Amino acid sequence: MRNTSELPALEAGREDLFDGLRVAVTGGTSGLGLALVRELLSRGARVSFVARTRERVQSVAREHAGAHGVVGDVSSKEDVYPVALQVVGELGGLDVLVNNASDLGPVPLAMLSDTECEDLERAFATNVLGPFRLTKALMGALAASAREGRGAVVLNISSDAAVNPYPGWGAYGASKAALHHLSRIWGEEHAADGVRFLSLDPGDMDTPMHAAAIPDADPATLKRPEQAARELVEAIAAALPSRVPHGAPIRSSRELEGANV
Ligand SMILES: NC(=O)c1ccc[n+]([C@@H]2O[C@H](COP(=O)([O-])OP(=O)(O)OC[C@H]3O[C@@H](n4cnc5c(N)ncnc54)[C@H](OP(=O)(O)O)[C@@H]3O)[C@@H](O)[C@H]2O)c1
Repeated sequence: MRNTSELPALEAGREDLFDGLRVAVTGGTSGLGLALVRELLSRGARVSFVARTRERVQSVAREHAGAHGVVGDVSSKEDVYPVALQVVGELGGLDVLVNNASDLGPVPLAMLSDTECEDLERAFATNVLGPFRLTKALMGALAASAREGRGAVVLNISSDAAVNPYPGWGAYGASKAALHHLSRIWGEEHAADGVRFLSLDPGDMDTPMHAAAIPDADPATLKRPEQAARELVEAIAAALPSRVPHGAPIRSSRELEGANV
């Protein structure tokens, strides 16, 4: 599992990669997701973001010109397909999907033997089934983008809890481990059609989720979500093919087949 701080910086001359790039971010109203929306907009991307709380979605959309808000719950089977339709309808296609929305499991954190089945189910519904359904629903749009030479990337936000057996983090850690492994298999299965999959740990960040998990953590010891967002956006850039400004492709999809993250 790679932590975003270990990733190389964006190559010089690729700063225009994000001009007109069509990106969807789940959980875009708080913490890392909100920082990603802002970072992507500042680089010229067109962004559609998803979260459950209507008022918050509306206020983030109002405050960020160019961002399109979608109200939806990624853990709900009924919501995912309408969300996918709104994203593609608004952006006219999709180049990058960031599965960022997440459920912490029981709070306060509980040992697995004390975890209710419903809490485990909710964590898996949000952290595994949600990204699975949304990625499936958007795969046609992503594959089309890869075929056109624009490139296509799915970034699944992971955690060190996906690989380390931290006591009390069972529901969250097991679900993040499943998402990480899904990403690896998807990556293998889509290597030939040019849809790239990333699964990255942003590091411990000062966000509402972290405060809910570890209320007495000193925020000064935590990464700013804006820093993690910059690192993740550079990882996306490294996975995209080079493009001339305004999104026109300069490499064919056949040439892309050999490219790697
Ligand atoms: N914070 C950390 O230290 C840390 C460390 C490692 C990994 N991560 C990962 O980083 C990502 C972002 O975490 P964060 O700390 O920024 O979280 P956060 O501040 O709690 O924000 C979560 C966002 O997701 C939305 N959301 C939650 N459940 C949703 C659902 N079912 N459907 C749609 N949207 C939903 C929330 O809005 P609504 O509630 O309105 O839906 C909110 O916009 C997560 O994947 C997390 O696992 C975080």
